[in-house]
Amino acid sequence: MATLIGGLGTSHVPSIAAAMDKGLRDTPEWQPFFDGYLPAQEWIRYHRPDVAVVIFNDHYNAMFLDRVPTFGVGCADEYHPVDEGWGPRQVPPFRGAADFSWHLIDTLVENHFDPEIIQEIKVDHGLQVPMELFWGRPENEWPVTVVPIFVNVLQYPIPLPSRLYNLGKVLRRAIESYDSDQRFVVIGTGGLSHQLQGARAGFLNPDADQQFLRDIADRPDELAGWSREKYVQTFGSEGGELIMWLVMRGALNQQVTVRHRHYFAPASMTGAGMILLEED
Ligand code: DHB
Ligand code: FE
Repeated sequence: MATLIGGLGTSHVPSIAAAMDKGLRDTPEWQPFFDGYLPAQEWIRYHRPDVAVVIFNDHYNAMFLDRVPTFGVGCADEYHPVDEGWGPRQVPPFRGAADFSWHLIDTLVENHFDPEIIQEIKVDHGLQVPMELFWGRPENEWPVTVVPIFVNVLQYPIPLPSRLYNLGKVLRRAIESYDSDQRFVVIGTGGLSHQLQGARAGFLNPDADQQFLRDIADRPDELAGWSREKYVQTFGSEGGELIMWLVMRGALNQQVTVRHRHYFAPASMTGAGMILLEED
């Protein structure tokens, strides 16, 4: 049976991609942010996961308001990076773990989650940035396959935090019932606090961000019980993306060890952070 070896959470801010593309990694502004990911990169090099299940949202780059699936699961052999308007990036296409994707979709449906089944799609910064932060940019091919899980966190009504936590538990069941010796990591993405529009544009809440980075490890049930409105009030309208970390956390056991945690603010207009969790 396949094994879940750990959970990662990270921001997926597009300016991180721009900083990498422009060679700004080691500038005084960016170095402290990127250095915070070194322990996670080392962990990945040591444990060499085969499959990354990445929970993220498309930001109207591959889908638009004419169709808004609450959940979608990619089941393609390949996902190309979408051009978000600044031209194509020098990032190789992501190899899909299509066989597991179909097993996951089957398991989700058996457990009363009914995702859109997505056989062809491009992926935006929501997936690109976390992959590059944890694996670095490969010259030709990614050393890991991906399973994208798309969540609607932009167009109301967005799903309940508790539902995402429960989706994580079903994801775990799918990994544990998958007939394979592959090793999996689950990556929750988005956040931390930010609001890009409206009266509170520019809103940041570093205290709440740092509390979230503690509670996602130690009090996930509490975070899963929050209302959607409380996420938006606490983290900003786009900071509500943080509910996607609950899928990652729900996939792990109750008891976890925090291997690494890092917070940096602001990355453009966003509180940025990461966590690396292993099961006890
Ligand atoms: C921005 C976009 C995002 O999707 C995000 O999660 C954080 C910040 C931005 O455009 O600055
Ligand atoms: Fe986002």
